[in-house]
Amino acid sequence: MVNRWSFTKKGLRKLHQEKADPWHLGSSRYEQDKFDKLVEVAQGAPHASILEVGCGGGHLTEKLCTISNEVSGFDLSSDAIERARIRAPLADLFVRDSDEFDYAAHRVDLIVASEVLYYIDQKQQTLNRMAGCSDYLLTCEAWFLGATLPRRMEPWKLVKSVSFSRFKQLRWCSIRLWQRNGVTPAFAT
Ligand SMILES: C[S@@+](CC[C@H](N)C(=O)[O-])C[C@H]1O[C@@H](n2cnc3c(N)ncnc32)[C@H](O)[C@@H]1O
Repeated sequence: MVNRWSFTKKGLRKLHQEKADPWHLGSSRYEQDKFDKLVEVAQGAPHASILEVGCGGGHLTEKLCTISNEVSGFDLSSDAIERARIRAPLADLFVRDSDEFDYAAHRVDLIVASEVLYYIDQKQQTLNRMAGCSDYLLTCEAWFLGATLPRRMEPWKLVKSVSFSRFKQLRWCSIRLWQRNGVTPAFAT
């Protein structure tokens, strides 16, 4: 069965094909508040240009466009990207699988990977490849999936960690800003 917990690429593509907003990102107060928090934390890093990995239907992309004139993003689902282009018309959005994306060819100030690293099999390899694209990485992971990232994550160094929760809705997540190892911070956090 394909539902919001689908973790295969085929399942995710089918999910986006069947449902306009599989995770209720547009209607949930929790998700909206979480996006606002992510944008607030993003502003603690250089953010003139931003790349969003796994942007889905563009709910967060739309908000990132309020703080940067150079937002790009991709998702493995063409249905999701079609919706994201409508929601965030100023962003440069395209269909791509992270496993095939050439991170080193896209230099940006900040990468945003919100609720997407769970789906990536080759996490360490992907984190290494991301380091070729940016000095800063913003991640967001839901606690109930039991998949929060460790505090040490090569080749990234944790510079800010914020817990975001809405107890009434039993929702928690961890928002983290990472700096590539060996980089002198440009911004105090
Ligand atoms: C839970 S949604 C999160 C959407 C958005 N980042 C947010 O925080 O609202 C996860 C998204 O990651 C995308 N995704 C998962 N694996 C991917 C991959 N290997 N390459 C590109 N996108 C991927 C899915 O299609 C889905 O849209």
